[in-house]
Amino acid sequence: MSTSTQTVQVLLRCVGCGRVTLVDESGLTCAVCGNLLEVLFPLPGFELPDAATLKSLWLKRRTSRSAEDQSGVWRFREILPPLGGGQSPITLREGNTPLYELSLCARIAGVRQVFAKHQGMNPTGSFKDTGMTVAASFARKDGFRWVACASTGNTSASMAAYAARGGMKSLVLIPEGKISWSKLSQALEYGAVTCQVKTDFDGCMRILNEVVSRMPIYLLNSINPFRLEGQKTVAFELMEQFDWQPPDHVIVPGGNLGNSSALGKAFLEMKDLGLISGLPKISVIQAEGANALVRTVREKGGKELVSVHAETLATAIRIGNPASWKKAVRVLEASSGTVEQVSEVEIALAKAEIGADGIGCEPASAVTLAGLKKLVKQGFVKAGDSVVLVLTGHLLKDPDFTLKFHRGDLFEGTPHEKDARVLVPRQRAPIVLDASVDAVLRTLEAAEKRP
Ligand code: F0G
Repeated sequence: MSTSTQTVQVLLRCVGCGRVTLVDESGLTCAVCGNLLEVLFPLPGFELPDAATLKSLWLKRRTSRSAEDQSGVWRFREILPPLGGGQSPITLREGNTPLYELSLCARIAGVRQVFAKHQGMNPTGSFKDTGMTVAASFARKDGFRWVACASTGNTSASMAAYAARGGMKSLVLIPEGKISWSKLSQALEYGAVTCQVKTDFDGCMRILNEVVSRMPIYLLNSINPFRLEGQKTVAFELMEQFDWQPPDHVIVPGGNLGNSSALGKAFLEMKDLGLISGLPKISVIQAEGANALVRTVREKGGKELVSVHAETLATAIRIGNPASWKKAVRVLEASSGTVEQVSEVEIALAKAEIGADGIGCEPASAVTLAGLKKLVKQGFVKAGDSVVLVLTGHLLKDPDFTLKFHRGDLFEGTPHEKDARVLVPRQRAPIVLDASVDAVLRTLEAAEKRP
């Protein structure tokens, strides 16, 4: 069994040509065919305990006082690449996020049970922390002083935090004016060198790839296979919360497609390890204006990437050239999942509905509910099915969006203005009142009459 004190060579496999290399001999892409790499699991020659032993070991660690055990990522360390050499991970006690039942959303969508796996409840408010704890720990172990990412905001917030905790410096490239202020402010607070570059996410990525090829900087975007290993643990934790009985569907937003790839890898590994007996259908939802995967699947049968010029108010997934598209296509195929796209107004409505269930999330996460409604109408999700929506970011990640929504001016002056009338029943604009008891009582009376 792997333990953190053994020094073990991690192996990477190319998702294109299948070539296997030692991690020390690889960059982040295959030297032969240029495709992305993934961590080979299980490592050859490594014996893992049986499924029942793993399940009880992971659960028992929840009562431990050690930082590694308290992390919802590292308590699953048997399925992670071993850090080795007695190294301890950089951890903010990420993971261990709640699973909420969304009864209002289930009624709205017309399905038996809808759950939210709320990754926005991570330390920096998004799912990125589960991958960052692993990749940042490997960066520090390999002696890097600098780490970097291009980001639509959440990766940068997370990276900056883990870099600071691990005593490393961080460089952030974000598209100018196209990310939320809350995410930008996180990167600043955690001390990142934060560059607002006059381009979009895809442009930031192109520049950063060149920068890291010239400097000894560790790239922490999701093409980094260690990030995806950490993100796998979300699926393990979810299955633990379901007593290892998979739901019928898991629905996830798609941007650069690292998350869907990680979840799929995790479910396949769990099946191989005998932890679960079957796979849920994993479906990926994108914004209509950033629908590269949807078009790749529908127009090219998943064989060739269709890049798009991305435009959506769900800025976290405003990505036109997703790096992990091949990995994501493989997950769709292996799990018999599907892809769907949703409009700006559908995203805004779904976000308010998740809010009305007392949970809330950022716009990119709400594509999951908007997509679910469509998949139910199409008959892909049946009324009796159980569904898990992976909510990737916290409501407070994008307060501007939420305020504009409730004030009714989110779509003002846009082509969506007419469609946006369906949002009115969910809008709760702030009410300015004279400082009198009567004014408050009158407001209460009027509110009583609202549906
Ligand atoms: N949801 C949120 C809240 C995100 O921040 C992202 C990606 C996604 C979904 C999509 O996940 O890229 O793995 O398919 N945000 C990245 C960033 C790109 O820079 O923060 P994906």
